[in-house]
Amino acid sequence: MARPALDRAGGGLVSGVAGSRRVAYDTIRAVHESDAYANLLLPTSITRAGLATSDAALATELTYGTLRRQGTYDAVIAIAADRSTGDIDPAVLDALRLGVHQLLSTRVASHAAVNESVELARGAGGRGSAGFANAVLRRVSRDTPGDWMTRIADGARSDDEKLGLLFSHPVWVVRAFRRALAAEGRADELEALLTADNAAPRVTMIALPGLAEVPEEARSTPFSPVGFRLGGGDPEAAIRASGGRVRVQDEGSQLAALALSRAMPVREGERWLDLCAGPGGKTALLAAEALAHGARLEANEISPSRAGLVRKALEGVPLEVPVSEQDGRVRAAESPETYDRILVDAPCTGLGALRRRPEARWRKAPADVPELTGLQRELLEAAVSALKPGGIVAYVTCSPHLAETAGVVAEVRREWGAALEEVSARDVITALSDADPGLAPQADGSERAQLWPHRHNTDAMSISLLRRV
Ligand SMILES: C[S@@+](CC[C@H](N)C(=O)[O-])C[C@H]1O[C@@H](n2cnc3c(N)ncnc32)[C@H](O)[C@@H]1O
Repeated sequence: MARPALDRAGGGLVSGVAGSRRVAYDTIRAVHESDAYANLLLPTSITRAGLATSDAALATELTYGTLRRQGTYDAVIAIAADRSTGDIDPAVLDALRLGVHQLLSTRVASHAAVNESVELARGAGGRGSAGFANAVLRRVSRDTPGDWMTRIADGARSDDEKLGLLFSHPVWVVRAFRRALAAEGRADELEALLTADNAAPRVTMIALPGLAEVPEEARSTPFSPVGFRLGGGDPEAAIRASGGRVRVQDEGSQLAALALSRAMPVREGERWLDLCAGPGGKTALLAAEALAHGARLEANEISPSRAGLVRKALEGVPLEVPVSEQDGRVRAAESPETYDRILVDAPCTGLGALRRRPEARWRKAPADVPELTGLQRELLEAAVSALKPGGIVAYVTCSPHLAETAGVVAEVRREWGAALEEVSARDVITALSDADPGLAPQADGSERAQLWPHRHNTDAMSISLLRRV
């Protein structure tokens, strides 16, 4: 089995390194103590600490790397400390995790990694904690990253547990990924997927169709016709210069919205609904598409604060889009046979976006899945009842978990029988794309499109298209 490639970062950065470590440690503490989101908290902490650009980059790498690799590092710490990580004071444990990350996955000098982490542990728990951290980190520093990977792999009781430890994913997530890849006959890509989850995604942008152009110096994305990547340069500057008509958006999200708007030709005056719209990335793209083709769009989002984000996301698009704040099940049930196209971008485990949210994999549990699939099924059912005959619903999740994707669609199709037929999302997306996305047939015979970080460089979005007949 191949070993995961460990990041090599941080080399050569000297000035302000202690500040970077402090910001990283405080962010990691806030993630564990108060359920903070690293991607939201870190930029503020970096600004408050006044870190220079290179130190900010180091703080980001230390924070994200430590949180992503926490599963691997905890296994290392448990061996080096000869005790379960549950028996270690949480504030000291976070100092150890940060130290182990620097020792095993960066080029930060060992003595600096150990000494600084010992000081963080001292601050957290006094002299005893400092001595303990010193002993653990010195033990870790005596062996190579490869030795530690071998040691933790040796302690695993199954292949999936081994992959979970080496690639730092909960074992239930490894299993869910294995099943989803196996449904395409591609279980051999599991390690590539787990590796992709541990790397930062490249920034992908969108030029809203009809409202902005892909900048000349940019490289177009291979699959979404409206996506691009800047070679260098500042995405924020490009966004500002475009008046919000150029944005950051994952290529998979672009494809999910376009799969609905381009599944069949648009007739003037069509009514569209985005049922679970917050924070509004796909709503903005649908609005641009609606504007270009003379369709009307409405949006709905249950959370008022996220509905506010939807309104903000729509600011750059000159189309009146009413945004309601209802439970999507109620909203759709109130409008039987009303809409030509509905997007159900359902609340889900988010297992397809682990690259973006370093702590997310540790926050979900298998028990979340049945709760979510119940809601997803009800949202999709309600959306189908709100479709006009001939209308299409796109059911989208940012998760490849088969229960949330194939399972939900199969249940709703069983319920509706011949009144609901599948439109091939694979064909629609392939026709949109410049390069062949190589969307694999699914074992259940469905035409669902499953995108993957390791194959498409997108989040692992699942897209199904269903037409009411
Ligand atoms: C995956 S996100 C949608 C992302 C969005 N389409 C975008 O591209 O920016 C799912 C959204 O559904 C919302 N949601 C959760 N339960 C809902 C419900 N019962 N009715 C409507 N929206 C719901 C969540 O608040 C969340 O904003």
